[in-house]
Amino acid sequence: MRFDPESKHGANNGLNIARDLLEPIKQEFPWISYGDLWTLSGVAAIQELGGPKIPWRPGRVDGLAAQCTPDGRLPDASQGSDHVRNIFYRMGFNDQEIVALLGGHALGRCHTDRSGYDGPWTFSPTSVTNSFYKLLLEEKWAWKKWGGPKQYEDKKTQSLMMLPADYVLVQDKNFKKWVKAYADDEDLWFKDFSASVARLFELGVPTQQFVAAEPWILKNTDEKN
Ligand code: HEM
Repeated sequence: MRFDPESKHGANNGLNIARDLLEPIKQEFPWISYGDLWTLSGVAAIQELGGPKIPWRPGRVDGLAAQCTPDGRLPDASQGSDHVRNIFYRMGFNDQEIVALLGGHALGRCHTDRSGYDGPWTFSPTSVTNSFYKLLLEEKWAWKKWGGPKQYEDKKTQSLMMLPADYVLVQDKNFKKWVKAYADDEDLWFKDFSASVARLFELGVPTQQFVAAEPWILKNTDEKN
């Protein structure tokens, strides 16, 4: 994602903002690879915003422009369960892990000037909680009436959103049972989310690059003395 055309792929819109925020840190600590810096910042965000510990280890060696991934390998938010499965099965994730990963939408929001979609998934978009699953199950969702891309809004407040690719999690029986499990038990979701994100952050990295055999559990700022 450091190079064109990958940095300009539609599914990466807006990530330039995060990359630019991290660039001064890269300048100050040039010995860290972009692969390590960007995954570490993801770990820090999840942990500092109240989420589970994400086991992480350093060593990723940055690739070259010629190794850019082709467009079309990232999930398309307008698509259904077959597409979501194709994308994540290719990376080695099963249905349970797909549902666990999508809970990442507890954080943040969609922006019309980035993806075209609009709004947050939860009422607490700066906290990692299992409310994404609870809202999916407990709220009534309807197509939003607007000029933008097809997305759902909650009927009650019309202030929350679900992407078509999020909503398949309650339309598909095998996905839905995990939505229920994670809505009922946040600890279970934290455990599964942590394991899946840790794997996602190591995908495609040759094991010999890592400096440690076992990932580390990093302290949060409020745990440091
Ligand atoms: C089917 C898979 C997925 C699809 C289709 C998808 C799609 C999207 C879209 C369209 C946005 C809005 C971008 C914008 O307008 O700014 C977004 C944002 C976001 N996604 Fe996903 N995503 C998927 C999986 C994931 C996963 C696995 C995670 C993390 C574990 C994740 C974390 C986030 C976060 C935190 C944001 C908010 C960004 C912000 O607030 O600026 N997503 N995603």
